This record gives sequence, structure tokens and C-alpha cells, in this order.
Amino acid sequence: MRGLIALAALPLAACGHAGGASADLARQTIADHCGACHTVPGVAQARGRVGPDLRGIGKQQIIAGTLPNSRANMIRWITHAQSVSPGSVMPDIPLTAAQAQAVADYLYSLD
Ligand code: HEC
Repeated sequence: MRGLIALAALPLAACGHAGGASADLARQTIADHCGACHTVPGVAQARGRVGPDLRGIGKQQIIAGTLPNSRANMIRWITHAQSVSPGSVMPDIPLTAAQAQAVADYLYSLD
């Protein structure tokens, strides 16, 4: 049984995004700044229904119907949605670079 659990944990560890301090920073940032509007797997406080559920966002080709999905564009969108899409319900969110990077990596770690 213990062997099975260790095996099941391997893919997460190998991906390098879902664990550790960066994932903790991401979950905290998402709880504080995104959870009122978005549902995000793995973050209990993120159950919002204003914007899209962010499950599987890494597999989506376009972010918010406008930007090709890349890490740089994801960071741009989550900090400056208003300059990308003026009038969107999603506000600009004043995150530190470390917070924005951690959130992007966390979102890309979701299936
Ligand atoms: C006030 C509500 C609100 C907050 C707060 C908010 N968002 Fe959004 N978000 C939205 C809405 C509404 C959309 C859809 C906007 C659009 O397509 O123009 C959106 C779109 C997105 C998208 C694109 C989704 C897709 O399917 O293309 C991502 C990624 C995203 N938000 C991430 C975040 C993250 C990360 C945070 C926190 C740092 C956050 N949002 C905070 C409302 C919000």
C-alpha cells in the first residue's frame, strides 16, 4: 500500500510546479485575489462563479478569448487584464512578480 502511494505521488513531484513554497504562495495568492470570481482546483477558498473555472486552463489555446496561451501572456493577463481587454469584468490585479509567476505555474500544473 505504501508503495502505491509513493508511486501515485511521483508525477506531481516530477512536474515541479504543484508542490513546495511556490505552490503555497500561489494558493494563498489565489485565495486572496482570485477566489471570489474563479473556481480553482486545490484552493478551498476559490469557488467563485463570476469568471470561468480555471481547471485545465493550461490546455486552452487562447486566454480570455484574446491572448495566445503562454506563460508570459498568462502573467500579463492576470496582472493587467484591463489593458488587454478594456472593460472586462476582470480587474488589474497588483501582484508581485513572484506571486504572478507562482500563480501562472500553479494554473499550468492543473489538469
Ligand atoms: C472580479 C472578478 C475577477 C477576479 C478578482 C479575477 N478574475 Fe480572472 N476573470 C474574470 C472574468 C469575468 C474573466 C473572463 C474575462 C474575459 O474573458 O474577458 C476572467 C478570466 C480569467 C482567465 C482566462 C480564462 C479563460 O478561460 O480564458 C484567467 C486565466 C484568469 N481570469 C485568472 C485569474 C487569476 C489568476 C486571478 C487572481 C490573480 C483572477 N483571474 C481574478 C473575473 C475575475
